[in-house]
Amino acid sequence: PSPVITIDGPSGSGKGTIARLLADKLNYALLDSGALYRLTALSALNREADLTDEATLTEIAANLDIRFELRDGEVVSLLEGQDVSHDIRLERVSMAASKVAAMPGVRAALLQRQRDFRQAPGLVADGRDMGTTVFPDAPVKIFLTASAEERARRRFEQLREKGVSVSLRDLLEDIRARDARDMNRATSPLAPAEDAVELDSTGVDIDGVLQIVLQLVRD
Ligand code: CDP
Repeated sequence: PSPVITIDGPSGSGKGTIARLLADKLNYALLDSGALYRLTALSALNREADLTDEATLTEIAANLDIRFELRDGEVVSLLEGQDVSHDIRLERVSMAASKVAAMPGVRAALLQRQRDFRQAPGLVADGRDMGTTVFPDAPVKIFLTASAEERARRRFEQLREKGVSVSLRDLLEDIRARDARDMNRATSPLAPAEDAVELDSTGVDIDGVLQIVLQLVRD
């Protein structure tokens, strides 16, 4: 099978950016698994489904009509043919995705869909459980972390560039709440695979992290 590089880690660790740069560099396909949970959540919100009803959510996840397309170098997420790339990043969708992702039925329904992204010449898979559950046989596994303070600060800078003003303390609380939800769920909780390389990016910029990751891939 084609090689997979898994990049797992908590919210705001920069794994999304690293995964994209790495896939570009190696000419590999990219799986943003978080987008699948976000799309499931958005579909449920659009249908006004009961977000605590696992059977309904599982059915929605199993029957998702989605596509990812590359447009002008950006990945566009299509739900039932509509570009929802912006909508899936909204705060209410993030909140819903986090709840939906805790349901074992939903995770099981999305498992094969994620594995289907594997293709030649290779795949970079970004998520929480890529190295533990989805691609346990991946030859290169990275677990990317950074302190909660650093992740909150990065998010703060990103939002400030967009002209959004929020308090750093609220962002830090939000990051801690997401960490707790990710680590405490019963199925596929956030944790490094036994054979993952743990990389702490606190104080290291994106290019620095990319160089370290590329070195690991070459070794
Ligand atoms: O990084 P951030 O939390 O902002 O978002 P994301 O990576 O797009 O993930 C969206 C939601 O899906 C989060 O609540 C994650 O916990 C969940 N998720 C998951 O459970 N398993 C994955 N493989 C990827 C994301």
